[in-house]
Amino acid sequence: MDKHIDPLFKAKVEELLSQMTLEEKVGQLVLENAFAPINWHEVLQQQKLADERGEPFKIPLEINPVTSEHIRAGRVSAINSADPLLNNRLQQAAVEESRLHIPLLVGHDVIHGFRTVFPIPLAESCTWNPELLERASHAAAVEAACMGINWIFAPMVDIARDPRWGRVAEGAGEDPFLGAEMARARVRGFQSGNLPMGRRISACPKHYVGYGAAEAGRDYNSVELSERTLRDVYLPPFQAAFDNGAQSTMSAFNEISGIPGTCNSFLLRTVLRDEWGWNGVVVSDFNAIGELVQHGVAKDLRDAARLSILAGVDIDMESGAYTKHLAQLVEDGAVPLTILDEAVRRVLCLKFGLGLFENPYVDETLSEKYILAPEFRSLALDVARQSMVLLKNDKNVLPLQAQDQRIALIGPLANNRADLLGTWAVTGQASDVETVFDGFRHYVQGNLLNCVPGCSVSGDDPLDISAAVAAAQDSDIVVLVIGESAGMSGEAHSRAHLGLPGRQQELVNALAATGKPLVTVLMCGRPLVVPALVEKSAALLIGWHAGIRAGQAVADILFGAENPSGKLTVSWPRAEGQIPVYYAHKLTGRPAEGTGTTQYHEPFRSTYLDEPNAPLFSFGEGMSYSEYEYSNLQVLTPFVSPKETLQVGVVIKNTSSRAGVEIVQLYIRDLVASVTRPVKELKGFQRVHLEAGEKREIRFEIPVNTLGFHGLENRYLVETGEFKVWIGSDSTHGLDGIFTVRDILHS
Ligand code: BGC
Repeated sequence: MDKHIDPLFKAKVEELLSQMTLEEKVGQLVLENAFAPINWHEVLQQQKLADERGEPFKIPLEINPVTSEHIRAGRVSAINSADPLLNNRLQQAAVEESRLHIPLLVGHDVIHGFRTVFPIPLAESCTWNPELLERASHAAAVEAACMGINWIFAPMVDIARDPRWGRVAEGAGEDPFLGAEMARARVRGFQSGNLPMGRRISACPKHYVGYGAAEAGRDYNSVELSERTLRDVYLPPFQAAFDNGAQSTMSAFNEISGIPGTCNSFLLRTVLRDEWGWNGVVVSDFNAIGELVQHGVAKDLRDAARLSILAGVDIDMESGAYTKHLAQLVEDGAVPLTILDEAVRRVLCLKFGLGLFENPYVDETLSEKYILAPEFRSLALDVARQSMVLLKNDKNVLPLQAQDQRIALIGPLANNRADLLGTWAVTGQASDVETVFDGFRHYVQGNLLNCVPGCSVSGDDPLDISAAVAAAQDSDIVVLVIGESAGMSGEAHSRAHLGLPGRQQELVNALAATGKPLVTVLMCGRPLVVPALVEKSAALLIGWHAGIRAGQAVADILFGAENPSGKLTVSWPRAEGQIPVYYAHKLTGRPAEGTGTTQYHEPFRSTYLDEPNAPLFSFGEGMSYSEYEYSNLQVLTPFVSPKETLQVGVVIKNTSSRAGVEIVQLYIRDLVASVTRPVKELKGFQRVHLEAGEKREIRFEIPVNTLGFHGLENRYLVETGEFKVWIGSDSTHGLDGIFTVRDILHS
């Protein structure tokens, strides 16, 4: 008997298992495509036309008769589908027409909302507001539950320090501490109760693990990570997700230091099962088992099936390897039956835990009540407003004056719907999106507002930049809405050049030449490399791909109804050559600052000849219309043991005449340790609301046992010695103090 099985369901699982044939056991480990093949090229064309007409579009999906047959025969355990009608029909095949009546897991990628599309997760993380994201994830789970979905392939908790990687859009940025906070919030949001009809949903934190460290930022590329970095940086968000009840995870496509994530028994058994004692289900990524052949570690699909099941992958997503070969592998003695049984137990346990045996069907009319419910739409607006990051505001050009300024609203994304949904918004509808132009019309009278695209997002289109210049000349101020299309980030969409695509920089240059102040709103799925744009803009707001309420949120911020509070969770490079650039780097033996080692006639330092080391915008950076002053940092516990709590206080004053929210950040550095440590590490943050002129003392209480790292033997420890602590507005500013840890703590 598997020691990891939840005792609550043990008897039921064992009873069912004892009735299963070998084929039925294998069937419980298979996720199969539910839909008949369609002509995707044609469908996407139709969708584009519908988007342009502002009409909703439904992908015409039909059940794959082969899959129905397989479900009836007990050969399929899970599908990936978001259609309530089809889901009920397939559940019926499983529950009423198969021999053992085992319900289906119905999975789906609900990455940043279902129909109520929220900002992309990278943007959401810039709220630094886990409580808000928990509510957003819960709203997504409610909408998904109405579709019969019981398994959400999210959150993506991969740490990403390379903006070339298109999937940087899907995660919470570069920092493990913040990533873990966000992972917790999302899992709680997806899995908490109160779903319609008492349904339950399982989260699936992914992609286990290291996927974000793909070499050169190219998707699916090899990953080379030391065990220490893996444990200190990439594993913590997963551990946080599991500690908060996530009952499944997805094995990553990539290899790590020579062993693909999908046959990596060190990661899947030693770490997950033995060290963490986690008892959830591991599903492979899409065809990742089949791809072991391409990786060159399996000679064929049978070999790939053997390696994966032995390493600990429970469910095969869409490669067909388990269906075709697992039963024979067991019969041949190449895979012990105990290993197969152990995987089946975990899957059955998940199904019992979700209540699927009692409640397999969804009420198809539920969606009328919940989809795009007013409270979800207003939540999407809150998240969008809090996710946008103001990075420049020369001479307080913002907020705009609605009454007496003539505004030229220019750029390919100014009146665009589909791209604002961002990547992985498969169930979103462009027709639900409010454009920036829509948002502006709430504030500006028609005769004062002129909207011109100027050029397309990408490509060398014939649109007339001179029409945009004419509109600029005829106005008092230019608001430029530019950036990336939705399809430029996300899976398999890495970029080597991170500047503005297409003719957009040309547009910027032409508009800047008019001498009119440029207020730039960048809608994008990743940090871009745009120093020239920043220089030419009087104000810069990072609007990201912010979902269905993007336009309203931009307008609320630009016209001052909302005081911006978002802060970056990923660094913005000055040049692609700096990548990876992140705040928590090491110092090196020849740091950029200081005297350096003099070799030959000058100090040799770890710098570039042609760029500073620092990014253009750093982790944690973001402005508001208010100003905050930090004073009087006090380390209240100058000597602490690892079992105690570090207490640090600081006084913050809102020195402006406007109420606002400041995201106050606490960083530490272990000054001397047995292995090199980052120059700064985030260990706490608070969102602090301050009225105009208000002054308040803020207190941080940080458990000292969270200040450790994996030492010489890759074991977690907090070492004795001096630490520096900073509290400030971002990773580059802050008041500092010193504290000392007195006894050592080993895990
Ligand atoms: C992605 C996963 C996703 C899966 C199922 C894969 O290509 O990497 O993130 O969950 O497809 O749609």
